[in-house]
Amino acid sequence: MTITVFVPCDAAALAVGADKVAAAISREIEARGVDARVVRNGSRGLLWLEPMVEVRTEHGRIAYGPVTPGDVPELFAADFLQGGAHPLCQGRTRDIPFLRNQTRLTFARCGVTDPLSLDDFRAYSGLKGLEKALAMSPGEIVAAVTESGLRGRGGAGFPTGIKWKTVLDAPGTTKYIVCNADEGDSGTFSDRMVMEGDPFMLIEGMIIAGMATGATKGYIYTRSEYPHAIETMRRAITIAREANLLGPSILGSGRAFDLEVREGAGAYVCGEETSLLNSLEGKRGIVRAKPPLPALQGLFGCPTVVNNVISLASVPVILDRGPAFYRDFGVGRSHGTIPIQLAGNVKHGGLYETAFGLSLGEIVNDIGGGTLSGRPVKAVQVGGPLGAYFPPSLFDTVFDYEAFAARDGLIGHAGIVVFDDTVDMLKQARFAMEFCAIESCGKCTPCRIGSTRGVETVDRIAHGIEPEQNKALLADLCNTMKFGSLCALGGFTPYPVMSALKHFPEDFVPAPVKEAAE
Ligand SMILES: Cc1cc2nc3c(=O)[nH]c(=O)nc-3n(C[C@H](O)[C@H](O)[C@H](O)COP(=O)(O)O)c2cc1C
Ligand code: SF4
Repeated sequence: MTITVFVPCDAAALAVGADKVAAAISREIEARGVDARVVRNGSRGLLWLEPMVEVRTEHGRIAYGPVTPGDVPELFAADFLQGGAHPLCQGRTRDIPFLRNQTRLTFARCGVTDPLSLDDFRAYSGLKGLEKALAMSPGEIVAAVTESGLRGRGGAGFPTGIKWKTVLDAPGTTKYIVCNADEGDSGTFSDRMVMEGDPFMLIEGMIIAGMATGATKGYIYTRSEYPHAIETMRRAITIAREANLLGPSILGSGRAFDLEVREGAGAYVCGEETSLLNSLEGKRGIVRAKPPLPALQGLFGCPTVVNNVISLASVPVILDRGPAFYRDFGVGRSHGTIPIQLAGNVKHGGLYETAFGLSLGEIVNDIGGGTLSGRPVKAVQVGGPLGAYFPPSLFDTVFDYEAFAARDGLIGHAGIVVFDDTVDMLKQARFAMEFCAIESCGKCTPCRIGSTRGVETVDRIAHGIEPEQNKALLADLCNTMKFGSLCALGGFTPYPVMSALKHFPEDFVPAPVKEAAE
């Protein structure tokens, strides 16, 4: 029987040489005349092991990693095609603790299948949610999503079912589904992994969203920095059209839905939904005032669902397994699973899908293995560049929207960036203000002017100029930005700044005093 070797085609694996590894394995197969083939799969999300090569054996899939092209002859010599022993062998893939302890609902197929094989997709439960949705009315689909407790994974945690109901009930014959795949948050990559590793799941979720709300056209808005995701999504859409999964009659149902991928130039603010809509319409990516809500007047003035990739990709399993199944995972009002993305100075960086409810300490220390440098963790930033910095003393915070909000933090898109004790938190506070100044769309004063004044104020503290007065001024400025900004870019920049000041006051001691202390 032909042996299957899997080499990921995910951008994170490609960045560390997966193409060269795949080529080396193909050459060796040819040279040795063995009956084996290479399949390019998505990533399993164990990024420190990439390129992680897997071999399908009678004992299950065996993983080897991180593999370099130079390792390939040795792997063949060690009979890796039969799962042979080798220092790079990680054992059975599903037994690797980082994978074994996950609850993979959304990422169940990612890294398992060939992303562009519709046969693989169907073989691993693909289209089951859509098939159920085809037998339901729009109101029933919306009710199921509402009952599941799914909240938007793009950052704000808004209930997806309520958003869909607003669009369903909105008058109008033209409605749109817009998938927010801009993924600008630092340390996040779950959207990209879906698009590169399981694109049909996103297509399935978007078709269901269209059926639920009466929209017949969808757009996936992503950034030009994601060339592999764009290419894979476009190819998947073509395959889906050829299979009648997209087009005038979805699987012969008589219901229409079609999709397009659109590339943005990579402005952080274009991830904000109204700015994104302007960009999609070909205008400058500037934030629109709300109301009107995009659900009522969105793309080209029509009712529009704007949802994050993970929100939409979570829908097929909800429809397939039922809302109660999904709702039972999690804690409090945070239902289901969340793909946590671990990045920065962390030993085991990658994607970890789990039910809401783990503590931050468990995530960083037990799952992430602490810092890569081996030094103590000083801070973690949760929720992207607008998220708060948490010190280890807050590691008992449970991963849940409300628990983070209660401690002046946010989950955002579930990215966690780890820093060791060499980080200077004053510099991080300055960076947050500078980031806001660079990325501000310029529409409102607290953000446009406040962020620049913020950088100057942090600089004055750093130089020992009236430090106490300037710290008070910084707090006052943050207050104005928080309550006076039109969108969360200006409104949430105070979170990293104020959390740095609150939890790490020792880093805001002016330079002359610091030197004296040394
Ligand atoms: C500055 C800024 C950047 C944002 N970037 C993203 C992004 O990259 N991806 C995303 O899904 N949501 C992003 N959002 C949130 C969106 O505005 C919106 O809430 C989200 O797409 C709604 O989808 P959801 O309900 O599925 O979360 C951003 C918001 C702000 C204020
Ligand atoms: S807060 Fe900043 S990004 Fe948001 S609308 Fe105002 S100027 Fe634009």
